[in-house]
Amino acid sequence: MPVPGNQRESRSMAGRVVLVTGGSRGIGRAIAQDLGKAGAEVAVGYVHDRKAAESLVSELIGTGASGRAFRADLSRPPEVRRLLARVGSWRGRLDGLVTCGGIYRGATVEGTPASEWEEVLRVDLIGSFETVREALPLLRAGRDPAVVTISSVLGSHPAIGGVAYQAAKAGVEQMTRVLARELAPAVRVNGVAPGFIRTDLNRGGHEDPHYHRFVSEGTPLGRWGEPEDVGPAVRFLLGPGSRNVTGVVLGVDGGIPLG
Ligand SMILES: NC(=O)c1ccc[n+]([C@@H]2O[C@H](COP(=O)([O-])OP(=O)(O)OC[C@H]3O[C@@H](n4cnc5c(N)ncnc54)[C@H](OP(=O)(O)O)[C@@H]3O)[C@@H](O)[C@H]2O)c1
Repeated sequence: MPVPGNQRESRSMAGRVVLVTGGSRGIGRAIAQDLGKAGAEVAVGYVHDRKAAESLVSELIGTGASGRAFRADLSRPPEVRRLLARVGSWRGRLDGLVTCGGIYRGATVEGTPASEWEEVLRVDLIGSFETVREALPLLRAGRDPAVVTISSVLGSHPAIGGVAYQAAKAGVEQMTRVLARELAPAVRVNGVAPGFIRTDLNRGGHEDPHYHRFVSEGTPLGRWGEPEDVGPAVRFLLGPGSRNVTGVVLGVDGGIPLG
């Protein structure tokens, strides 16, 4: 019997091996769930919350998908190296990589000591770079390999507070374009830049009714994003539908940059 179009689409990641850093919680978790539903085998990266990572893996296995949790602190290059070695022992290749693990610190310039500037850049920018570089041998062994970096609307649209975070995300976006050039045609590299998404990262913000309203009113689509809003964009950039797309950063931001 022919497979209906939408069913084909829903299994678009069948058999593809994908590492999602920061897969234990928030946006990364929703991305991993979305990829799992589409048939991917998902390596779930985490650093502290082993329970969350393992509950996700159980959930993936329970729905007939496949996954495994891998711990690594992205701010420590030797741990990133070991992470990719262990993912390599697990499946021997990567068809997709999503660099989603990250932290946010919201101080303005005078409240940002060098230690905080460094902390954020080490995780969000250097950690993403180290992950892609160390993943390259596995990606080159993969089928139609693709990388998706996770930036933020704040990587290109400045806001007051969080200067280190915004600088790191701007770096992630240019890194994405440079890697897209350097790694073509073997590996496609794109980014996704979410707007304000309700997760633990900004709990203080979305639980504050004034700030909640401030963000909703400043967003043309009139709402905060949910983690589930990001997965389909990442799946598109990892999958066959984007085979001629590289070097773009796709906003999933409710139209914030429109002003
Ligand atoms: N939420 C937003 O509005 C928003 C908007 C734009 C972009 N983003 C980006 O989306 C990504 C995920 O954010 P989120 O909102 O989902 O945050 P979250 O709910 O706080 O989740 C952060 C994830 O990153 C992992 N992580 C944090 N530090 C790490 C480290 N040093 N090494 C390895 N993994 C680390 C965490 O692992 P554990 O569970 O083990 O702690 C967790 O899986 C980040 O890159 C963030 O900048 C978020």
